[in-house]
Amino acid sequence: MSKKVLVTGGCGYIGSHTIIEMIRSTDYEVISVDNNINSTEKTMERIRQITGKEVKNYQVDLCDLAATRQIFEENDNLVGVIHFAALKAVGESVEQPHLYYHNNINSLLNILKCCEEFKVNNFIFSSSCSLYGNVEQLPVKEDTPLSKTESPYAHTKLVGEEIIKSIVHVNDVQAIALRYFNPVGADKTGLNGENPINKPNNLVPVITQTASGIIPKMQVFGDDYDTRDGSCIRDYIHVTDIANAHIKALNYLIEQRNSSNYEVFNLGTGNGVTVLEAIKAFEKISGLELNYEIGPKRAGDVMAIYSNSSKAKELLGWETTFGIEEMMASAWKWQQNLNKEAGRA
Ligand code: NAD
Ligand code: WQD
Repeated sequence: MSKKVLVTGGCGYIGSHTIIEMIRSTDYEVISVDNNINSTEKTMERIRQITGKEVKNYQVDLCDLAATRQIFEENDNLVGVIHFAALKAVGESVEQPHLYYHNNINSLLNILKCCEEFKVNNFIFSSSCSLYGNVEQLPVKEDTPLSKTESPYAHTKLVGEEIIKSIVHVNDVQAIALRYFNPVGADKTGLNGENPINKPNNLVPVITQTASGIIPKMQVFGDDYDTRDGSCIRDYIHVTDIANAHIKALNYLIEQRNSSNYEVFNLGTGNGVTVLEAIKAFEKISGLELNYEIGPKRAGDVMAIYSNSSKAKELLGWETTFGIEEMMASAWKWQQNLNKEAGRA
């Protein structure tokens, strides 16, 4: 059986780490498609440096059906698709909803259409814990009711899951949606990691850029939440653990096809960490004092969310292996390499 897999968004943060793990620990052959709207082709060079393998990236916009179809024509024996490609900035999606609906929904429809036409039957979708919104009970399970989605971005994930569910119902494709909590950290080599093209909004790149002096002083968004230290709680998860879950999910679809052809899994560690605890973990592993102040709450933030990921453990045999200090240490190693590249260190 063919072992060739198409990874969309392969130049991006989670896609590239998944490609690296696939090369490291499996015999899947990977090809990538990414139009580099939020990444650069340099990622392919980083993957080559880490793994010694050349991965082909098609620089194609998945909203272009003809160009997407061409990739399937050239690779007619794909065993599966892992679909990471999407725009993901929550704030930007509120300002430019049309862009987000157009990009995230059309690309998904096109890739699913090609899967149907070319009989590629195994499909994995990047979904998000943002679907749960403000929850009444923690930790959240896959059957925790989804709240009204707060942003067009989150809505594209909700609609994306619904589209996939309807499609697997009528054709041969079987699919898994993986709801990631807060992916952070970098490859253990420090040679690949998150590389925001614009000013970062997410906590860990904000921390490492503050420690590097790129951001003069960071803010902790609120310290009077009803949590153990007043700051928000999240379930940070190492990107390499997330990457490995995709391999387990793909193997599950290919080897253990069961009665249900659509499954959803939470991917988190199950541990809630506050913003102030995350900062302390960074200070501990780096030996630096971070320049931060307490600022106002950020609009739209939920107070606390963390995952129950026992379904992924039970059915996929997947477990997390890294704690918050290892997440911070790998992110810091990567940031220091970026600083060197940019002549900052
Ligand atoms: P990323 O922006 O680093 O990677 C996404 C990649 O997709 C980028 O390289 C971008 O250029 C590409 N892309 C976007 N639209 C495209 C299109 N129309 N055609 C071709 N390529 C396109 O993001 P990431 O953090 O790696 O996220 C990967 C997936 O995981 C996304 O679907 C995201 O919504 C989802 N997700 C991310 C997080 C997170 O915190 N990083 C959390 C939950 C879910
Ligand atoms: C984490 C915590 C902030 C920056 C986002 C998306 C979600 C999903 C994951 C894609 C919060 C605090 C942050 C700063 C801070 N992505 N913070 N100062 O908001 O949990 O989730 O990424 O699907 O959809 O919304 O992640 O990293 O932005 O914030 O105090 O400068 O850090 O308030 O409590 P978030 P985040």
